[in-house]
Amino acid sequence: MMTIDAVKCIQCKACIEVCPNYVFACHAGGAAEVEIAHPEQCCLCGHCVAVCPEGAIRHGGMPPEEFREVPHPRVSGADMRDILLSRRSIRAFQEKPVPRELLEQLIETATHAGTASNAQTEDFIVIQNRHLLSELEELVIEILWKAGLKYLGSRLGRTLVELKYGRRMVRQYVAYHHIMANRKRQGQLRGMIFRNAPVVVISHGLKTNFLAHTNCAIATRNMEIMAPTLGLGTCWVGFLTSAAHISRRIGKCLGVPPDRKIYGAIMAGYPKHRYGKRIPRRRREVCWL
Ligand SMILES: Cc1cc2nc3c(=O)[nH]c(=O)nc-3n(C[C@H](O)[C@H](O)[C@H](O)COP(=O)(O)O)c2cc1C
Repeated sequence: MMTIDAVKCIQCKACIEVCPNYVFACHAGGAAEVEIAHPEQCCLCGHCVAVCPEGAIRHGGMPPEEFREVPHPRVSGADMRDILLSRRSIRAFQEKPVPRELLEQLIETATHAGTASNAQTEDFIVIQNRHLLSELEELVIEILWKAGLKYLGSRLGRTLVELKYGRRMVRQYVAYHHIMANRKRQGQLRGMIFRNAPVVVISHGLKTNFLAHTNCAIATRNMEIMAPTLGLGTCWVGFLTSAAHISRRIGKCLGVPPDRKIYGAIMAGYPKHRYGKRIPRRRREVCWL
């Protein structure tokens, strides 16, 4: 149940303005007191409690002690820009395990990413078991190879794929065909997917949620941005999410329930190298309307 403490409430109407679902109202042209008009519309986002300057709002679904004070922002715009522009995908790791408390901090930041309708239905799998990681790696390679990469060695195969996905994508897929074929020949498939990272963090969501892939992506992005502040490096494992998209075998291998799907995955560990230079980017077309 939600309540507004009428003594504490100063009628600032911040709750009305920030609520995504129009739970609060103030009728009579704004002269009346703020009231909880539609509690049934609440999505448990907690904004009303967090924004109220007087602590007048309580929400039965969220214990008050879990609302922590927000410190004033300590990261300057320039610092944030530096962090974002120098972020790198890390693929070479020290042979050093990552303490669980750091992984828990990553998960915490992922948990604080927004989710569509505040559904918060995405969950995580943290894999540190080397045996499981190599098993998974083999499975990913097998699925991607059989699903199409193996055909890209022939002209006919390339033409067919080009018809379906266009020339730009085919260039990328053909490169993967060659990488896999070469490494297969050299007996070096091991480490190709997870780069011998000590940890892989996977996020999965409900298949029925149209925006689960977006939720998982931004949760994963939070971890990616947080990681370097803990001395860690990460890299997305799109190979894994692609394989999971193609075949249920990946989800089964990890115990993901059949109504859920893997939408995000990163490898993580202590980076072996430091990037001393920022990398230039393609100048994007931006349409200002
Ligand atoms: C959705 C997504 C999937 C990716 N999948 C992989 C992957 O499976 N393996 C890999 O080595 N890098 C993967 N990457 C990393 C990209 O290759 C990398 O972002 C790109 O080369 C640019 O480098 P940077 O991240 O250091 O800026 C992925 C990145 C994204 C955003």
